[in-house]
Amino acid sequence: MSRIMARKRKVVNIFLGAIIGVLITTVFKRNTETSINSEICEARTDVNLKTTYEHLESIKNSAINNSNNNLLFVGVMTAAKYVNSRAKTVYKTWGKNVPGKIIFFSSEFSYSNEIPLIGLPGIDDSYPPQRKSFTMLKHMHDNYIDRYEWFLRADDDVYVRTDRLEALLRSVDSRKPWFIGQTGRGNNDEFGLLSLEENENFCMGGPGVILSRETLRRIAPHIDKCLGNLYTTHEDVELGRCVRKYAGVPCTWSYEMQVILYHNQSGDAAFAGDLKQKEVHRAITMHPVKHPQHMYRLHNYVKGLTIQEKQQECIGLHRDISSSMSYLGVQSDQLLTAELIADVALYPEPSGSENYLGDPELLGTPVSLNRFQYKDLEGVLDWELISKSLYSYKDLNPRKRIGSALKEGLTDIVREVMELINLYSKQRGRIIDFKEILYGYWRLDPLHGVDLILDMSLTYKKYRGHKMTVPVRRHAYIQQTFADTKIREVILNEEESFSKPKISDGSLQQKTFINDVIARIGENLPLPVVFNSKTNMNNKYINFILPLSGRYETFKRFMKTYENICIIEQELTRLLVVLYRNEDILEDFSRSLDLVKLIQKKYPQSEITYKIIDETFSRGKALQHGADIYRNNDLLFFIDVDIVFNHKSLLRIRHNTIQHKQIYFPIVYSLYNSRFLNKSFEYTSLNNELNLDNRNGFWRQFGFGIASMYKNDFEDLGGFNTSIAGWGLEDVAFYDNVIKSSMKIIRSVDPGLVHVYHPVECDTNLVQAQKDMCIGTKANILGSLYDLQNLYKKYKYLFR
Ligand SMILES: *[C@@H]1O[C@H](CO)[C@@H](O)[C@H](O)[C@H]1NC(C)=O
Ligand SMILES: *[C@@H]1O[C@H](CO)[C@@H](O)[C@H](O)[C@H]1NC(C)=O
Ligand SMILES: *[C@@H]1O[C@H](CO)[C@@H](O)[C@H](O)[C@H]1NC(C)=O
Ligand SMILES: *[C@@H]1O[C@H](CO)[C@@H](O)[C@H](O)[C@H]1NC(C)=O
Repeated sequence: MSRIMARKRKVVNIFLGAIIGVLITTVFKRNTETSINSEICEARTDVNLKTTYEHLESIKNSAINNSNNNLLFVGVMTAAKYVNSRAKTVYKTWGKNVPGKIIFFSSEFSYSNEIPLIGLPGIDDSYPPQRKSFTMLKHMHDNYIDRYEWFLRADDDVYVRTDRLEALLRSVDSRKPWFIGQTGRGNNDEFGLLSLEENENFCMGGPGVILSRETLRRIAPHIDKCLGNLYTTHEDVELGRCVRKYAGVPCTWSYEMQVILYHNQSGDAAFAGDLKQKEVHRAITMHPVKHPQHMYRLHNYVKGLTIQEKQQECIGLHRDISSSMSYLGVQSDQLLTAELIADVALYPEPSGSENYLGDPELLGTPVSLNRFQYKDLEGVLDWELISKSLYSYKDLNPRKRIGSALKEGLTDIVREVMELINLYSKQRGRIIDFKEILYGYWRLDPLHGVDLILDMSLTYKKYRGHKMTVPVRRHAYIQQTFADTKIREVILNEEESFSKPKISDGSLQQKTFINDVIARIGENLPLPVVFNSKTNMNNKYINFILPLSGRYETFKRFMKTYENICIIEQELTRLLVVLYRNEDILEDFSRSLDLVKLIQKKYPQSEITYKIIDETFSRGKALQHGADIYRNNDLLFFIDVDIVFNHKSLLRIRHNTIQHKQIYFPIVYSLYNSRFLNKSFEYTSLNNELNLDNRNGFWRQFGFGIASMYKNDFEDLGGFNTSIAGWGLEDVAFYDNVIKSSMKIIRSVDPGLVHVYHPVECDTNLVQAQKDMCIGTKANILGSLYDLQNLYKKYKYLFR
C-alpha cells in the first residue's frame, strides 16, 4: 500500500482535443461500392439462366474486396427477413472497413442487389441456425481458405470496430489453431444439459467467433460429421464441440474477452441509450444491436471517437515539433515563419489556406500548469472547488449545484483517466476501479483549455502474486486542450436564399469570404460584418402575432417600439393583434383598439391588422387564432406585449427560421423590477446603455413562448394544444413536440429581445403547490440576488 501511496503524486496528464465550433463530418465513399452493386445486380438479373453454382462463383470472383487486404474474411449470418434491414446496415457501417472481405449468408432464396449475399442452397431460416452456420463455414473454407488468414463468424446484430480487430489479429500467429471468442460454459440452468465436461467450453456466438485459418482447415472436412452428431440445439455450443474435437483447441480462456467482445444483457435496450460508457470505449465487438438506427448511431459515435483520437495525435505532433524546434533555438512565436533549411518553410501553408495546420504557437504549448501566462493581477485565473457542490467565485451565491455540462465533462475525464491508469493492468496484474471524486479544482484558461486537479478515491485490486484489494487515493492533474476553430460553410439552397448574406453570392466570393474569416481569426483581427441589418437581403415578411388582453399601457409601449423599428424603418413586417374583449377591462380593450386604428390611419401602408376575440383569454388559443389567417409559406413570429425588440432580432428571426427544417426559440433577456434598476435607458429602444448582466436581469432559459416558424411547420407539428387551460404550459408542450419531430431547433440568447418586468399575479385560489411555484417565480423575477440581499439586510426586522 505504501508503494501505491508514494506513487499517488504522479502527474497524470490527459490531453483531449476539444472541438470548438462545428465539425464537418465527411463520409468517405469508397469507389468500390458502386462496382460491387452493379456486379451483384448483374449476377442476379439472369439468375434463372445460371445455375446456383455459377451464381456463387460470380460473387466469389467479383470485386467485393473492401481493401487490398487479405487479413480477414467476415461471414455474416442473416435471414431473409433481415436482409434489407440488419444486414444492409452492417454492410453500410462497419462492413465497409473490413480489412479483407465481407459476405452475408442467408437461406436459399434470399436475395439482395445491394449487398454481397449468398443464399445457401438447401438451407432455410429455421432457428437455431446450426445448418446455416456450419454450411457457411464450409463455404468459407472451400472458397477462401487460401486467401485470408482469419475467419469471423458474425451475426447481423453485432457491431465490429474493424481497426481494433485488425490490430488484435495482427498480433496473433494465424498459422496456429486459434478459436477466439467470449468463453461460455452455459448458465446455471443449462449446466449439465450442454453435454460439456468440467473443463470444456465454447465461444458464445453473439459477439462474434474468430477462427484462424488453421482451425478452419482442420474442422472443414468434418463439418458433416459435426452436423450429424448434435447434442444440443445451441449453434455456438455445437461449433465449440466441433472445433474442440477436430481442431483440438478450446475457446480462448481469457477474462479479457468479456471486455473486448462485449455482450450486453439488456436485449433490445442495449446500445439504445447513452453510449459514453467504458464498455463501449473498450470493446472491439458489441452485441446485440437490434435496430438499424442504433447501429448507425453507434457507428457515428465510434467515428466521433476516431476524430477525437486523431485530434489528440495532431496536438501531440504539434507539441513534438515545438519542443524539437526549441532545441534548435527556434522560439514558439517564431514557428510559423521558421525554415528547416533555406527556403523550406516548416509550415508552408499560411493561415487562411486550405491546408493550414493550425496555430503552432498555441497548439504546440507544452503541458504545464503554468502554460497560461499572467500579464497582471487582474488576469490571474481563479480555481473553482468541486466537491458535492460547486463553489464558485463567479456567482453571488458561491455554492451551486454542479451543472449538467460540468458533470458530463467530469464523467468523460474520469473515464479517460481510468483508461490511462489501467492501460498496463494486465502486465502489472492489477486493476484499479474508480469510486468517487473526493474533491477537485477546475479553471478555464480561455486560450488553451481547461485545467483540472482531482483527488480521486479508487479501489486497487491485485490479482497476481500477493492478492489484495485496498482503497487508495490518487491525485490527477489534467489538462484539456482546445483544438483549433472549425468553420463550416453552409451552402444555402433556393428556398433558404432569403437569408443568404449578400457577400456570399456566387461560390467564388463565398470561398474568398470564408478564407478571409479564417485569416482574420489567425491574425486576431476583428471579423468582417456579415449580417448587416441595413443591407437589403431581407425580402421575407415577418408576421408578428401579438395576443393582447387588457394591458393598454404596455401595449402603448409595444406600439411605440413597433413604429420605430418596423414602420419608420420600413422593415418587411406585418402585425396582427389578437385582441380580447374582456368585460373586466373593457376600457383597455377600446383604448387598444383605438390605438391600432390610429396607427393604421397614420401609416396606411403599415399592414397592421387586428382580430377581436370574445372568449376567456388563453395564450395558446390566441396564437392559434392568429396563425389561422396566414398562408402556409408565411413566416410567423409569436411575441408578447412585454417584449421590446430591435432590428438585429428581426435579422436573427429571418436567419434562424427555415421552412420545413428549423424553428427558432430565442432566449430572451428578462429585466428585473425597474425599482431595482438604473432607468437610464428608454424602454422603447434597446440601446447600448442597457447592460445585459446579472444585476439588471436574467436570461429566460425556461421560456419557450417567443418563437418563430413557418405556418405549415406550425400546423404539421399540431399547433398548440388548446385544451391546456391556465397560463404558460402550451408553449412547453409545443416545444416538446418539436423536439420529438425531425425539425431542428435553434435555441440561443437573443440580446435584441428584452422582456420588460411585469409583476406576476398569483391567484389565491391556486392549489398550494402551484401557489408556491407562483410565489417562487414572482420572487425570482423581482430583482438580482445582490439587490434583494441588500434589501433584506436593510429591512431585516420586517422579516422576524
Ligand atoms: C480481390 O482480392 C483477390 C484476392 O486477393 C484479388 O485477386 C483481386 O484482384 C481483388 N480484387 C480487387 C478489385 O481488388
Ligand atoms: C447494458 O445493459 C445495462 C443494463 O443491463 C444498461 O444499464 C446499459 O446502459 C447497457 N449498456 C449499453 C452500452 O447499452
Ligand atoms: C446604479 O447606479 C449607481 C451609481 O452609478 C450604482 O452604484 C448602482 O450599482 C447601479 N445599480 C445597478 C442595478 O446597476
Ligand atoms: C392536450 O392537453 C391535455 C391536458 O393537458 C391533454 O390531456 C391532452 O392529451 C393534450 N393533447 C395532445 C394532442 O397532446
